[in-house]
Amino acid sequence: MAQSPPRPRVLIFPLPLQGPVNSMLKLSELLCLGGLHVTFLVTDHIDARLRRYSNVQSRFHSYPGFRLQAISDGLPENHPRGDKFLEVFESMKVHTKPLFKELLQSGGGGEGGDRISCVIADGGLEFPLDVAEEVGIPLFIVRTISAACLWVFFCLPQLIQSGELPFTGDDDLDVMVKSVPGMERYLRRRDLPSFCRSGNPPLHAHLKAKLAATGASLPDFSNSLWEEDRFCLVWLDDQPPKSVLYVSFGSLATVTRDQLMEFWHGLVNSGQRFLWVIRQDSVAGESQVPMELLQGSEERGFVVYWAPQEEVLAHPAVGGFLTHSGWNSTLESAYEGVPMICWPYFLDQQVNSRLVEEEWKLGFDMKDTCDRSVIEKTVRNLMEVRKDEFQRSAAQMASSAKTSLGDGGSSFSHLERLIQDIKDKSV
Ligand code: UDX
Repeated sequence: MAQSPPRPRVLIFPLPLQGPVNSMLKLSELLCLGGLHVTFLVTDHIDARLRRYSNVQSRFHSYPGFRLQAISDGLPENHPRGDKFLEVFESMKVHTKPLFKELLQSGGGGEGGDRISCVIADGGLEFPLDVAEEVGIPLFIVRTISAACLWVFFCLPQLIQSGELPFTGDDDLDVMVKSVPGMERYLRRRDLPSFCRSGNPPLHAHLKAKLAATGASLPDFSNSLWEEDRFCLVWLDDQPPKSVLYVSFGSLATVTRDQLMEFWHGLVNSGQRFLWVIRQDSVAGESQVPMELLQGSEERGFVVYWAPQEEVLAHPAVGGFLTHSGWNSTLESAYEGVPMICWPYFLDQQVNSRLVEEEWKLGFDMKDTCDRSVIEKTVRNLMEVRKDEFQRSAAQMASSAKTSLGDGGSSFSHLERLIQDIKDKSV
């Protein structure tokens, strides 16, 4: 009897950061459900954290075609990758690239005799494109940022050519961006990606070099890389509906001790309940989180090092999210219908926060301010004064998100098309 041909094996390669790892693991699961075999390739540092803190291994057990595979990023184990992620990217270009090439050339060695027939790589990693082309394997690029922000990135060469970038100073941050049609409607200079501002010379140089080189005109579920504190869910169970502001600045952002204190006073003075994620490495210059801040407010405030964020946002007690506007956090909040206060840290987050306030009316953009009285007032506005208005618009957004993900919805149909494309290219 003729044997059926092996199924296409897709190699998925995310950036070694929590946000991209999370979203691309979800994509992997969907592709497995669509009948594909998946190799999820991560740096050895991420591999160790996933094996230790997430339930990826047990969760993917039901997909025999799924394989978690590690590749070296070329850095010593004790390198502070979170603080110095640009060094990680540089090292990967040198050390990971040849290993990646060997892996593709060898076919990836699936047990059922299958070979890697297609690569899906994060667009933030540049070398997989060159390698896949060299080896002759089709490659899809995934961007784990919003389409709106990707458009802004694509327009950067145009902004540089028109002389709008780089800024000469940070004085006119409220000037609308003029040289790209459509942008003048809602984007100010302060809403452009953080590296567009002065005081960021290496990235400016990088941008210019890139422009010159291209000559371009234009639940019971965890993917966590840290140990989740699940006690906060129990604490949330005791809080009234939509009464708690969830506060988290994602996996990379750091704050100074002064900023931490401003947030603390702002939150306490707002009189609202809050659940605050303070990562152990998130206070710049401090090795310890100042726990004495908690004294006297224990019943209203709960602090953890890392939370099961998606479960927190889905909890009925949560009524708002003070976020750094990372794209995963923004999507997770929109999906659960939780209004936001945005305090963007860098990269795409400046754009996302503007969209949240100005375009989607899902909350407030508090960028470039870190003052206890502003924080207090903004929190009150979101959680009390304008609560009904924001809860309504967030509920509408959540309903559209769910429609697009459901059978026949736009996201659902795009995913089906992607799976078909992968199968076609793997013949
Ligand atoms: C950042 C950016 O924000 C992102 O937009 C950019 O493209 C790359 O770098 P990150 O800081 O990781 O990523 O933010 P985000 O994209 O929001 O992802 C954070 C992820 O960690 C979310 O999926 C969130 O659910 C999870 N998380 C966060 C937790 O599970 N627990 C926490 O306590 C905090």
